[in-house]
Amino acid sequence: KILILDFGSQVTQLIARRVREAHVYCEIHPNDVSDDFIRQFNPKGIILSGSHASTYEDQDLRAPQAVWDAGVPVLGICYGMFTMTVQLGGEVDASSHREFGYAEVRARGHTRLFDGIEDFRTPEGHGMLKVWMSHGDKVTQLPPGFKLMASTPSCPIAGMADESRGYYAVQFHPEVTHTVRGREILGRFVLDICGAKPDWVMGDYITEAIARIREQVGSEEVILGLSGGVDSSVAAALIHRAIGDQLTCVFVDHGLLRMNEAQLVMEMFAGRLHAKVVHVDASAEFLGALAGVQDPEQKRKIIGREFVEVFQREAKKLVNAKWLAQGTIYPDVIESGGAKTKKAITIKSHHNVGGLPETLGLKLLEPLRELFKDEVRELGVALGLPPDMVHRHPFPGPGMGVRILGEVRREYAELLRRADAIFIEELRNTRDAATGKTWYELTSQAFAVFLPVKSVGVMGDGRTYDYVVALRAVQTSDFMTADWAELPYALLKKVSGRIINEVRGINRVTYDISSKPPATIEWE
Ligand code: XMP
Repeated sequence: KILILDFGSQVTQLIARRVREAHVYCEIHPNDVSDDFIRQFNPKGIILSGSHASTYEDQDLRAPQAVWDAGVPVLGICYGMFTMTVQLGGEVDASSHREFGYAEVRARGHTRLFDGIEDFRTPEGHGMLKVWMSHGDKVTQLPPGFKLMASTPSCPIAGMADESRGYYAVQFHPEVTHTVRGREILGRFVLDICGAKPDWVMGDYITEAIARIREQVGSEEVILGLSGGVDSSVAAALIHRAIGDQLTCVFVDHGLLRMNEAQLVMEMFAGRLHAKVVHVDASAEFLGALAGVQDPEQKRKIIGREFVEVFQREAKKLVNAKWLAQGTIYPDVIESGGAKTKKAITIKSHHNVGGLPETLGLKLLEPLRELFKDEVRELGVALGLPPDMVHRHPFPGPGMGVRILGEVRREYAELLRRADAIFIEELRNTRDAATGKTWYELTSQAFAVFLPVKSVGVMGDGRTYDYVVALRAVQTSDFMTADWAELPYALLKKVSGRIINEVRGINRVTYDISSKPPATIEWE
């Protein structure tokens, strides 16, 4: 197993992810663990992360002496390279300005770490790597025994190695995807240089996670807000596997869910997994609070507030609960950590249950905190959840509340639910000939939107005067920007025909061809 010492970088989890991708077991621990801890951990290799701190002069940010006494390979990344340099007798200079971004690094000196790994060759025949660099402080003198491994014009010592001891350090970040061959470089380190066995699988993660959950909660009881989304579902399945009936899931139905959603969730969790699930039908309460409200932000706030109220009421009934479990995943952790700078203005207020643990006096249990979305999906499948369920498109917390424009009414929700179900069914049933994938798989998010305007139509011999539905389907990798999907005309035709024929009350269907930005994915 590999030990990752965290010096406080935002991307340390990415190192762990790359190591897991090489099927090697790893753990992240703070940089100031004790020497004893490291000896007991008995790693095959150690990786020193980067840090948000820019100064190598901070005496607290050092690797424990046991790292250098362990006799195993060590890889220093960015800050990890500085501390390695300082601790092993080299010199670092705080240079005048920091630089971040794309760089081309020249590999030097034929080390095992880079051997055969390069992005291109210069006309002079130098092997080059395309990397994500962050430099400011610079190594100015190699520690004794080290040789130069990489350089750029502005950073002459961008990588160094003492191969006799298995020590390597790079100024750039191999863990981020912008470093094109980063995954190979980290794989080379853990598999070839450390000799770690690639025998880690998701099943092992489950075993470890279960042990951790049991240790954390002991015999105490846990509640979890189950939404039917991927994250809360996987968290529920995992925790249930760990502690069975000590877990109670609370499923709040606000009346703005997709077709058959409540049934599906209940069948899956109560029926198949035999988990304790409290199904709260709070639709009357939510729809009552929303009556007459037009403004999108106000609607979101009302739904968020109602959700917290209903959830709290249910939670208080479970008097023995000591823990609140949440399906927080790693990107959520980064997002809230970096929220101050990133979210300068609120385009849309996202509702979640933040703040709930304090008011309820509960401890927080977040077993998915270190996983990325695709890992959560893999975990879900390994836990026996249906692949369809773990590969679902995201669904916003306020549900169809933000897909019914303006005032929300039960009858609108009913029409929209049916139109939406037809759209999703056809996306799932239609395959693209070129890729063999369904259009549901080929889109990142797709749904119908209810427009509370009426238009004239003709049906049979009669005139109709009914509502309009818009179809929205987008492709995106991060949901920050998105393109509308070029769905086949035949598919659109079938969907529109079915909706107009099957959903009395809708006589017109349109397709949304706006990209984000300037539009957003949802209509409200
Ligand atoms: P927008 O509309 O901002 O959506 O382009 C980006 C992604 O966020 C989802 N979304 C929400 N999710 N609560 C949620 O849990 C919300 O209030 C909310 N608003 C938008 C949206 O579905 C899309 O995936």
